Amino acid sequence: MEKRATFGSKLGIILVSAGSAVGLGNVWRFPTEVGANGGAAFILVYILCVILLGVPLMTAEFIVGRNTHQNPFDAYRTLAPGTAWVFQGGMGVFAAWFILSYYSVVAGWTLQYLISAVMGRVTTMSDSAAYFTEFTQSAWMPVVMTAVVLLMSHWVIVRGVQAGIEKYSKLMMPLLLLIIAVLVVGSFAMPGSSDGLRFLLKPDFSKLDGGVLLSAMGQAFFSLSVGMGCLCTYASYFTDDARLLKTAGSVALIDTMVAVMSGFIIFPAVFSVQTVAPDAGPGLVFITLPSVFQMAFENVPLVGWFFAVMFYLLLLLAALTSMMSLHEPVTALFIERFRLSRRTATSVVTLSCIALGTVCALSFGPLKDVRFLFGLTFFDFFDFLSAKIIMPLGGFLLSIFVGWYLPRNLVIKELTNNHKLRFPRWLFVSFFFLIRWVAPLAIMAIFINELLP
Ligand code: TRP
Repeated sequence: MEKRATFGSKLGIILVSAGSAVGLGNVWRFPTEVGANGGAAFILVYILCVILLGVPLMTAEFIVGRNTHQNPFDAYRTLAPGTAWVFQGGMGVFAAWFILSYYSVVAGWTLQYLISAVMGRVTTMSDSAAYFTEFTQSAWMPVVMTAVVLLMSHWVIVRGVQAGIEKYSKLMMPLLLLIIAVLVVGSFAMPGSSDGLRFLLKPDFSKLDGGVLLSAMGQAFFSLSVGMGCLCTYASYFTDDARLLKTAGSVALIDTMVAVMSGFIIFPAVFSVQTVAPDAGPGLVFITLPSVFQMAFENVPLVGWFFAVMFYLLLLLAALTSMMSLHEPVTALFIERFRLSRRTATSVVTLSCIALGTVCALSFGPLKDVRFLFGLTFFDFFDFLSAKIIMPLGGFLLSIFVGWYLPRNLVIKELTNNHKLRFPRWLFVSFFFLIRWVAPLAIMAIFINELLP
């Protein structure tokens, strides 16, 4: 058999994984959740979820991928031959394919806003809510933009593991972190931004209830990309000396920092112009922020223009690196299972996602009244099925698989790189406790809560 590709360096490994994790979930979904769940207290609960659930589950996914060096479907088949566990691997790939289709639609909106920002429209439009509705409901542009972002991801994925995914992540992730730093400074410099800081830093524990806890867990899973085939596929390209726990810890740290910094960009700015509520919902970055850019910089248009362009560029970069990680599992499966060339496999994924993405994009406009199962539009159905059903189920099965099914020796061998690394005993004890008990029980709680009316 030909030798399978690997990533070239440890830094590359951290950056590609962070690229998967850092996405629309951090810049778009996290601030929305913080706004809806009362600010600082939510952030604290979120950080606990990342440490206690996110890091162990991400490590578990790395173990499955790195141990087998195969796509998720074959990975589970190798580790649990002749059992129903292949279903878990297949489901991860399938879900990645679905998530990619509707995620591209929002990434497409981002591209549209970036173009509008460059042309100076974002900072001059008179009614940002009307612009958003009109754009998302139209029949052409959302579809075109969805296709264009998918082609961008295609462009990277056809180049393969090192010359594509790793090379472009190494370019895009540092740029993304730099833009965040610039934007945070800009947002702090706005007059009246301290109210936003207070909202983010002063916890009001009276807001905490079960719902907040569950939202925080759901957000942590989505943001860290766990439970699907993405990280497992990336880990199948890890080298044997990559440190799985350390990588998971670094990725979680970067991901959480980007999410919190996005809050630091958005809330001080939003509070500074005061007229818009912090819990403005998913429209926050597409409706609220354009007005913020305008109002804040009425007297200095060029600065407003600059910040608008930077912000949407940030959002697009974040979305693209996550799309790459959703593109690769399906591509790897087609290459390894059906013996397709990388070019053909990537094209099959790109074209099928353009088709599915088109249906999702149109479900805000021409197909608005076409209801799929459960009375949901196509977009909402895709989101519901992948984020609310398959993701918790995938995370649950992952924790059972690594915590209970895999031999303990194999897990320890992967954690310690074949006994080369030394860890204190409490670390293993906590890892196994979290992955065997805490993770499955917590996920079950989210799941049941979501299914209850
Ligand atoms: N984590 C990414 C974000 O924050 C999205 C993402 C990429 C994802 N791969 C995933 C979500 C796999 C769930 C499962 O936007």
